[in-house]
Amino acid sequence: MRLFILLLSAVTSFSAAQTMINDKIVIAHRGASGYLPEHTIPAYTFAVAQGADFIEPDIVMTKDEELVILHDIYLQSTTNVNEVFPNRQRRDSNYYAADFTLAEIKKLQVHERIDTASGKTVYEGRFPLDASYFMVPTFREFLEFVMGLEKSTGKLIGIYPEIKAPAFHKTNNLPIVENTLALLDSFGYRKKLDHIFLQCFDKDVLRAIKEEMHSPYPLIQLIGENAWGISSTDYDLLMTAEGVKEISDYAVGIGPWINQITDDKGYATQFFSHIQSSSLLIHPYTARRDDLPNFTKDFDSLLETLFIELDVDGLFTDFPDVASKFLQNRVKQAHHGT
Ligand code: G3P
Ligand code: CA
Repeated sequence: MRLFILLLSAVTSFSAAQTMINDKIVIAHRGASGYLPEHTIPAYTFAVAQGADFIEPDIVMTKDEELVILHDIYLQSTTNVNEVFPNRQRRDSNYYAADFTLAEIKKLQVHERIDTASGKTVYEGRFPLDASYFMVPTFREFLEFVMGLEKSTGKLIGIYPEIKAPAFHKTNNLPIVENTLALLDSFGYRKKLDHIFLQCFDKDVLRAIKEEMHSPYPLIQLIGENAWGISSTDYDLLMTAEGVKEISDYAVGIGPWINQITDDKGYATQFFSHIQSSSLLIHPYTARRDDLPNFTKDFDSLLETLFIELDVDGLFTDFPDVASKFLQNRVKQAHHGT
């Protein structure tokens, strides 16, 4: 299979190959999070400077209904909340963003992600834990930042927001979906549909955005594992041929976990073939130089497997510089016929 794909790519003409590679997108996962604390304006700035096509904010909501950029619905893995607000955790020991006002969250400092049990950074070689000063941005600040940079550079910057845990927010009476869509509308994204994808792990929410709220934003169905317990969506069902067909009704693409589209040798899974047989885009998550899947020996080989052999349309990565350079080199090689 791999040999066949390699032979096929060798005989692909220059122009076809160039178009194919040029169409692929690099999505800076939580900003250039391999270099700077995730979901901070410096991490997004660095990602844009490194050539990312899209930058990814995960969105959660505060007690006073402000949208903030955080990966987790709680604060303790990436901020000093336990120092600033001791005793504000719930019984499960989590400090939920939904229990804090924006003014309170703005008092926190963001740091590199830690494992809260050990207090150590999750990725040892990344930005040092106690260096510099970072804050939690609001989604509005993020959009203002994008707009400002688009004006000063004259270039459009793609955004790829994810609505986190909509069911949790609903239970807490927080209108995260409605407010996210309203803010995007107010920043003119209905006229920038080539520069936005909206993603979520929750199938019912994506369906509602399309079919009940009639929102025009291109939707990406993220695929988790049922064992993760992140939503009531049945991912085993969505990964069948029928499931993929259903996704085509409301989404333009799928964001699978890399381990769901590759087997332990890096070959395509049946789920991948189902997506490939559809018209859906494939944007897998997450390519990390410092956390490689078992089947690959280095980051370039992983990029080769995903971008070239599996021919995915885009990739979430913590290292947008390496992925962008990889694609640029492929365009150059195609140009020189090598
Ligand atoms: O949204 C794509 C990818 O970011 C999903 O994983 O957990 O990093 O949000 P997560
Ligand atoms: Ca995400």
